[in-house]
Amino acid sequence: MKNVIVIGAGTMGAGIATVCAINGHKVFLIDINQDILNKSIERIKWSLESLHRKGRLKLSPDIIMNSIKTETSIENIQEHIDIVIEAVVEKSSVKKELFKILDERFDSILATNTSSIPIDEIARDLKGRKRIIGMHFFNPPTLINLVEIIPGEYTSTETIEKAMEFSRSLGMETILVKRDIPGFVVNRINLRIFDTVLTMAENGVDIEDIDSVARYRLMLPMGFFELFDFIGIDVLYNVINELNSRGFGIGDHRILREKIERGKIGMKVGEGFYRYGKSYARAVIRKRDVYGIDPLRIISVGINEASWIIRNGIASVEDVDRGQRIGMGYAAGLLEMADGYGIDNVNLILKSMNIKPDPLLEKMLDEGRFGIKNGYGFYRWPYRKVDLQGLIYERRWNHAFITFNRPERMNSLDLKAWDSIKIALSMADEDDVRCIFFSGKGRAFCTGDDIKEMYSWKNREESMSFFSHVEDAFRSLAKSDKILIALVDGYAYGGGAEMLLLFDYVISSSASEISFSEVKIGAIPPVATTLGIDMLGRKILRYAIFGDPMNAEEARGIGLVDTVVPEGQIERIYYEISRSIEDLDKNALKSIKKIVNVKKLSDDLRYSLNELIDLSTRESFKEGMRKFLER
Ligand code: NAI
Repeated sequence: MKNVIVIGAGTMGAGIATVCAINGHKVFLIDINQDILNKSIERIKWSLESLHRKGRLKLSPDIIMNSIKTETSIENIQEHIDIVIEAVVEKSSVKKELFKILDERFDSILATNTSSIPIDEIARDLKGRKRIIGMHFFNPPTLINLVEIIPGEYTSTETIEKAMEFSRSLGMETILVKRDIPGFVVNRINLRIFDTVLTMAENGVDIEDIDSVARYRLMLPMGFFELFDFIGIDVLYNVINELNSRGFGIGDHRILREKIERGKIGMKVGEGFYRYGKSYARAVIRKRDVYGIDPLRIISVGINEASWIIRNGIASVEDVDRGQRIGMGYAAGLLEMADGYGIDNVNLILKSMNIKPDPLLEKMLDEGRFGIKNGYGFYRWPYRKVDLQGLIYERRWNHAFITFNRPERMNSLDLKAWDSIKIALSMADEDDVRCIFFSGKGRAFCTGDDIKEMYSWKNREESMSFFSHVEDAFRSLAKSDKILIALVDGYAYGGGAEMLLLFDYVISSSASEISFSEVKIGAIPPVATTLGIDMLGRKILRYAIFGDPMNAEEARGIGLVDTVVPEGQIERIYYEISRSIEDLDKNALKSIKKIVNVKKLSDDLRYSLNELIDLSTRESFKEGMRKFLER
């Protein structure tokens, strides 16, 4: 047990005092008058009761309350003190004056919870400056278990260690911010991102669209504008100004000023960017147009700032991510997301926004550290690559990634490539492969059978043998107990379009073109005419009969494609899916596949393939192929 003084009984002081008391320390809570202290004690009681109801307290609220004493002056404290935490108003003059007194009066660590005043500015002229340190808590300290520890130029190692140890005694995770920079780590990164979304809104992007992307794609606990309402738009505006006065250099946002002028400063007054029926109600953010905005456009500036922080040795990769996860409630760290979306893409997006990527990001790009997709970015990820005939098999993170790799032949499949599908699927048969993505290299996803190879057949036996390999590949897709996901970005023709019916989830870029084109050479689409009709009904038939190409939206209309994303976003959604599948129960996924596969494995396929083999022996088929090859 330590004796702790918390000075300032406002939002943060009351919260910090509560956390100290919950964790068994004796607390002296100081403020300038008794009224404020009384109100604060009421708030602490309320918060303890609520934590108690949720079963989050080891001791009873009464016992905890007994360990908090209030005082209007530190002069009344006679006990030995281990640590003082200052949480008074964010005014440099007030804090400096206060620390002068604290320095004279106590020989303990003197910590400040300031969000923006440099530690050295407070410590510089004091005798005990080596005992002075920043301990930046997050609001509310009872719920957010994170403290940024900021040593100043004069702070001793002993003080740092004691501050870390004390934070841990409060059940807090710590981030050591090795240099006192405006905004420290978490808020510095946040503010870059906030600056971007505020600018987007000022340029006419709908805030609910931005917040939808935040909640439903970036998987953040709150939308950005919802968060601004929660923080208080006035508070946010002041923080931005404070940091700008220390040279941080982000925009002076009109959209914030207007809200403040109209008194719509957020949740605390019932309206900010959103309206709130009752206090602490959640904003209603309808899920809409989530693919209209590229999420990397929002977070790349934060990744760039984090890279600067890491390159300058201010905080580690792990600390940056812990900060976002614990401090902001991100489901994945920002740098984990950077690795997922791809470091190459982060660089590209920054350049497209006329922002120079940090040298660390450029270096990673030069060294080919792209992230999850090749096993090394900010972190190392499980990765293995095998070149198969006509196919690349990659084992990435929690999934397998299969790429049709005959770009010079529009990813059409010869016999060996069809066999490779089966091989790749068996390679993916590992317990921790949660799903398998299929994609195509170059302009096509996959354009089905290699017609050149088919044209060389001399007899029915050769055709039968080829189609038995095709059937094997189809059946191994239909049997797979992994979730199969197609990423279509370009042409999916013939067997390539047919395969989509065997996948569990089909995503297509808006520029893709899909066609059951078999009929054009006198053949038939064996899957579309069997399983296709079972799954999608008669509406697929017209495409099987006429072989007309569909654009992505049309394919979505008949249910062949599930999600259409703008060009350039296929890789984004790929990462988002692999992220969301990570938390799903493996056994449940397997069970779903077991059930679904019963339908896929019907004997109808045999019947339609026999029909196809018959057709393949006819002169008209040969003629169709010849014409195709001449084109
Ligand atoms: P607040 O305005 O709620 O509370 C400040 C309290 O300090 C008031 O009760 C005031 O009466 C008292 N006070 C002022 N001068 C005093 C003195 N000389 N001696 C004793 N008490 C005095 O402010 P809030 O939000 O709690 O912020 C406090 C500090 O924590 C600031 O430095 C702020 O930057 C920092 N902080 C605030 C966060 C937030 O989300 N509100 C988050 C992290 C840090």
